[in-house]
Amino acid sequence: MISSDIIQKAITELHIKDLSKATIREVVAIAGKIEKQTGLEFIHMEMGVPGLPAAEVGVKAEIQALKNGVASIYPIIDGLPELKKEASRFIKAFVDLSVSPEGCVPVVGSMQGTFTSFLVAGQCDEKRDTILFIDPGFPVQKQQTVVLGYKYESFDVYEFRGDKLKDKLESYLSKGNISCIIYSNPNNPGWFCLKEKELQIIGELATQYDVIVLEDLAYFAMDFRKELGTPFQPPFQVSVGKYTDNYLLLISGSKAFSYAGQRIGVVAMSDQLYNRSYPGLTQRYGGGTFGSVFIHRALYAISSGTSHSAQYALAAMMKAASDGDFRFLEDVKEYGRRAQKMKAIFLKHGFEIVYDRDLDEAIADGFYFTIRYPGMSGDELMAALIPFGISAISLSTTGSNQEGLRACTSFIKDNQYDLLDERLTEFTRHRNLCL
Ligand SMILES: Cc1ncc(COP(=O)(O)O)c(C=O)c1O
Repeated sequence: MISSDIIQKAITELHIKDLSKATIREVVAIAGKIEKQTGLEFIHMEMGVPGLPAAEVGVKAEIQALKNGVASIYPIIDGLPELKKEASRFIKAFVDLSVSPEGCVPVVGSMQGTFTSFLVAGQCDEKRDTILFIDPGFPVQKQQTVVLGYKYESFDVYEFRGDKLKDKLESYLSKGNISCIIYSNPNNPGWFCLKEKELQIIGELATQYDVIVLEDLAYFAMDFRKELGTPFQPPFQVSVGKYTDNYLLLISGSKAFSYAGQRIGVVAMSDQLYNRSYPGLTQRYGGGTFGSVFIHRALYAISSGTSHSAQYALAAMMKAASDGDFRFLEDVKEYGRRAQKMKAIFLKHGFEIVYDRDLDEAIADGFYFTIRYPGMSGDELMAALIPFGISAISLSTTGSNQEGLRACTSFIKDNQYDLLDERLTEFTRHRNLCL
């Protein structure tokens, strides 16, 4: 067990006032400092970094593009035509939605996609100055609203699954101040997946109240309970796009293709949204549609496009996936196998899964899962596991009202399952002594 002096020293040196409010990066830094000082290896469950090699087909295409000289040339802000075409095809192949290539726009990771979408959605109508988060969610997206100076509201969907979602959503949308709704599916941190009928509720209400839906597919098709990886064949990744025209999809290269380092993703706007003009945009920019403002005003001002070579990589990966030559989900299924083993160890030691069900079904095993320990708050649990060399983030930082932690499976090494078991044995022994 690591002494409290060493832990306190690391916290003080990092100028962290309240451990329970520590960001993901801060938890990483604390664990890193302790590891350096003690030589003890941590079981890192805090970072959502892909733990697998980048997809080879992407790396090859990117190297070739660089050899061909693309590094010296500014990319077109709208996106490489080849990538736009392949993104549109990929969406048809795996989501069964038709989005024109025009509306498929490369971005510097989904992060830039949400930032730009929040920005433009918030400028469409001055009365709509608030973003609605269906939580729990990815904490840095709230940080984006702070940077933008936008207001947000949020609710934890834990108590509002299924039909209950309708009244809850309507209680926000009926006020008329919501510009857009955001959620991730599969969910970070809970790894639950909103079901078809829940997406139908979101979509129909979005149309009724004229709100834009940002569907964050950072974990594209990674609900491993279903075989979502055969192009142009059901089952497909479920999407709100079946139920409303007011949507945009955020597709990230980071997790499905393990391509996080190159910061590449695609925002796919429905044709209707792309072509729609809004009074707020006309007033501010003198004209334009949602799509043209998004690209030629907002993205132009923010980064003037996306890394040229990374676009070649994503185009190649999407093409190979849609052609059926690259079974991209086979590689990332490793996260599901890890989750299964890790969950079994936690359950054996008296932990419980917090977000455990999708209505009538147990949640899938995947990139994240959530845990609680009876009698402890999430913040207490996070602090209590650090002395045993286990780091994770508290659900309180994710907009969740539940007490518990988010555990990420991506950094667990093969030798660490036994270690986790041993450390949790120590943890529970210590807990029982304290009681
Ligand atoms: C829900 C969610 N959205 C977006 C992102 C960021 O994706 P990208 O790396 O494409 O910016 C993440 C990354 O962890 C995420 O969990």
